Amino acid sequence: MASVTLITKEQIQARVADMGRQIAADYARQQNPIVLCVLKGAVFFCSDLMRAINIDMALDFIQVSSYGNEKYSSGVVTVLKEPQLDMHGRPVLIVEDIIDSGLSMREVFRYIESRGASMVRTATFLDKPKARKVEFKADYVGFSIEPQFVVGYGLDYAERYRNIPEIQVLSD
Ligand code: PRP
Repeated sequence: MASVTLITKEQIQARVADMGRQIAADYARQQNPIVLCVLKGAVFFCSDLMRAINIDMALDFIQVSSYGNEKYSSGVVTVLKEPQLDMHGRPVLIVEDIIDSGLSMREVFRYIESRGASMVRTATFLDKPKARKVEFKADYVGFSIEPQFVVGYGLDYAERYRNIPEIQVLSD
């Protein structure tokens, strides 16, 4: 498999710092906000993003699955790991690595709303607006990209390449 760099480490660092500043400003007056990291892909982005947010935010995790080991979404979203914190009356920021078809984010969003969160917002490192199967607009977007298969910075192909510290395009 061949790969080319799409987004460098330096571009990632600069963009995540900007997003962190913006989120800190937006959440400065919110009570007890929670960052909800969507496992596993968002772990790298979420960890960098939280360190770029200079206000106190709790951290929790959810895991859903739609892709398995395939390149394309099966369309069925299952909750594999539930969050542990009580979300009732608290603002929740869902943090994803990528929004593709929109199915995962739509389901996570609905699920968190159903847990009684006072406000649900979403942050995604990458957005592929042209790949949507369902409409979904994130509140915070790192980079918008074309519908190409990307790996690195948490994103995998069949559990490989997550630890590449930049975003690369994978081709056959
Ligand atoms: C990936 C990614 C998003 C989702 C986006 O997760 O992390 O959660 O797919 O695609 P969608 O918009 O088409 O739903 P995946 O199920 O591959 O799990 P992973 O994060 O553990 O790799």
